[in-house]
Amino acid sequence: MKTMNKPTARKEGNEETHMKAIVYHTYGSPDVLKLEEVAKPAPQDDEVLIKVHAASVNAADWHLLRGDPFLVRLVVGGILKPKVKILGAAVAGRVEAVGRNVTQFQPGDEVFGDLSGCGWGGFAEYVCARENALVVKPANVTFEEAATIPVAAVTALQGLRDKGQIQQGQKVLINGASGGVGMFAVQIAKAFGAEVTAVCSTRNVKIVHSLGADHVIDYTQEDFTKNGQQYDLILAANGYHSIWAYKHALRSKGRYVLTGGSMAQMYQAMILGPLVSMIGSKKMGNLLAKPNQKDLVFVKELLEEGKVKPVIERRYPLSEVPEAIRYVEEGHARGKVVITVK
Ligand SMILES: NC(=O)c1ccc[n+]([C@@H]2O[C@H](COP(=O)([O-])OP(=O)(O)OC[C@H]3O[C@@H](n4cnc5c(N)ncnc54)[C@H](OP(=O)(O)O)[C@@H]3O)[C@@H](O)[C@H]2O)c1
Repeated sequence: MKTMNKPTARKEGNEETHMKAIVYHTYGSPDVLKLEEVAKPAPQDDEVLIKVHAASVNAADWHLLRGDPFLVRLVVGGILKPKVKILGAAVAGRVEAVGRNVTQFQPGDEVFGDLSGCGWGGFAEYVCARENALVVKPANVTFEEAATIPVAAVTALQGLRDKGQIQQGQKVLINGASGGVGMFAVQIAKAFGAEVTAVCSTRNVKIVHSLGADHVIDYTQEDFTKNGQQYDLILAANGYHSIWAYKHALRSKGRYVLTGGSMAQMYQAMILGPLVSMIGSKKMGNLLAKPNQKDLVFVKELLEEGKVKPVIERRYPLSEVPEAIRYVEEGHARGKVVITVK
C-alpha cells in the first residue's frame, strides 16, 4: 500500500519517532502552513525512507496549497480539505532505511526525486518514497542543486523532447526563460543542439545569456510575436500571449508547447490547441509533465556532463516554507527557490 506521508496526531516525541514538518489541514494562503512535530514515517516494503537535505518549491506546491485550480483537488485528492498534508515534491537527501522489496538503493545512498506521484511530503525532515521515484544524486552537485531538478528540469525536458520533438539545428524560443522551468529549458534545448532564443525581462538578460542562449529578447522592450521572426518550436513556460500570437510566431510545421502561464493561456492551449493542430501544419497544445525515473536519469547525465547547471536564487530554512512559497507565487523567481532542511 502507498504511504501518503500523512502526519499522525501532533505530539512531542524524540528524534527516533518524530520529526518536524510543514503541515496544512485546510486549503488557503501560505498562512495556513504550520511547522509541527509529527510522527516520522516508516517505509512500506517497496519504499525508501529519506532524510531530506533539501527540497525545491514548485508552482504545484502553491496550487495544491490553495486547492486552485479546482482540478488539483480532484487529481491529488481532497475536495473539501487536502488529503496530502505535507507539500514538497522535489527532494534530495540520504537514504535512511529501505523496505524489504527495495533493490535499487541502500542506507547511506544520496538520492533525489519527484514525490508528486507517491504522496508528496518533502517539506519535512524525513519522507518515504517509492524507489522508482528516485535516482542516485550525481557527485558533482549539492543536495540543494539536486532538489531543483525533479519537477522543473523534467518538465522542460518532456516539453522540448516529447511534445516539442526538438531537433538539432532548429530555431527554438523559450518564453519565461528566467524561471525554474525556463532556465532548464534554455540549457536542455542547447544540449539538443538547437539555436535558442530566450525571452525574459531586463534584469535577467545577462544570466539567461550566461546559460547559453544564442539570442535574448527583453519582453519589456520587444514583443517576439510581432517582430517577424518565426520558430520551429516555442516552449511557453511563463508570460501571456494569445494562442494566435504564438501561431503567428511559428514556422510551417512548427510546434508550440505550453507548460505554464496564465489560466487564459492554459485553457487556450488545452481547448483551441488540438483544433488548430487538426487544420494546419502547426501543432499546438499543452504539456502535463509526468514523474519518470528514466527522464530523471537523462537530466542527471546532463548534470554530470556539465551541460545543465541549476540556478538557485534563494534558500529558506524548513520553518520558512510559507515565505518561500509566497515568493514563488509572486511569479518573478529567478531560477529555483530551495528549502534547506537541517
Ligand atoms: N505542465 C506541467 O506539468 C508543469 C510543471 C511544472 C511547472 N508548470 C508551470 O510552468 C510555469 C512556469 O513554472 P516555473 O517554475 O518556471 O515558474 P516561475 O519560476 O515562478 O517563473 C518565474 C519567471 O517567470 C518570468 N516571467 C514572469 N512574467 C513573464 C512574462 N510576461 N514573460 C516572460 N517571462 C515572465 C519571471 O521573470 P521576470 O521576473 O523577469 O518577469 C520569472 O523569472 C508555471 O505556470 C507552472 O505552474 C507546469
